[in-house]
Amino acid sequence: MKEMKIVVKDVWKTYDGSRDVLRGVNLEIPPRQMVLIKGRSGSGKSTLLNLMGCIDVPTRGEIQLNGYATASLSDKELANIRLHKVGIVFQSHNLINDLTVYENVLLPMKIAKWQGGDWRVKELLHSFSLDQYSDKYPDEISGGERQRVAVARALANSPSVLLADEPTASLDIDNCDIVIDAFKKANKEFGATVVIASHDPAIEGHVGTRYTLERGELRGDAI
Ligand SMILES: Nc1ncnc2c1ncn2[C@@H]1O[C@H](COP(=O)(O)OP(=O)(O)OP(=O)(O)O)[C@@H](O)[C@H]1O
Ligand SMILES: [Mg+2]
Repeated sequence: MKEMKIVVKDVWKTYDGSRDVLRGVNLEIPPRQMVLIKGRSGSGKSTLLNLMGCIDVPTRGEIQLNGYATASLSDKELANIRLHKVGIVFQSHNLINDLTVYENVLLPMKIAKWQGGDWRVKELLHSFSLDQYSDKYPDEISGGERQRVAVARALANSPSVLLADEPTASLDIDNCDIVIDAFKKANKEFGATVVIASHDPAIEGHVGTRYTLERGELRGDAI
């Protein structure tokens, strides 16, 4: 896996022409860091994660991945980054309802034309205690199970960066620990840069650096 450094440089995000949700955010995340972004509901956590994941673009400012400004990359390069380098756990899961749990986790590997898919899916499903749900569809499993499927899918292509938006929101304490352990494993053993947006106090002790978004600005928290 290639290491990934993320730089957010004076980033502004304005919705509807006048709503400044991010107002000059600066952030530098060296490779192999595990970072938490906190902030009240509506403070812009998902917005910031989506910008780092190249699924949205800033109104002003720059996002750099390993020194490359994402705005300068072609659509093909961005698609390649989204497929191979960045794993995203969306706040709303974004699982595909017409695909089974197995097929959802396999999908990124299939798109990447990676051959070892079957073995890797089974390994991921096993590590998230999802073996018995392999053939179920997302609407046939619980919210917490769907969340674990979303985390497994985000890890499928061994991303250099894992962006997780409220990944423990619908999990009980045991499943929360399973998910946090998986992030720590991705971070420690595979060298992934992990960025988590969350209100969950259970995550705070597990990260190296914490930030809080407030009134569109990001500040570092003392640990
Ligand atoms: N596509 C959009 N168009 C217009 N406004 C948006 C859009 N996406 C988000 N917003 C607004 O921007 C603000 C920040 O939203 P965002 O989802 O980033 O917050 P958040 O910190 O992730 O909140 P939560 O903790 O509830 O998930 C909110 O006021 C939201 O209504
Ligand atoms: Mg959010």
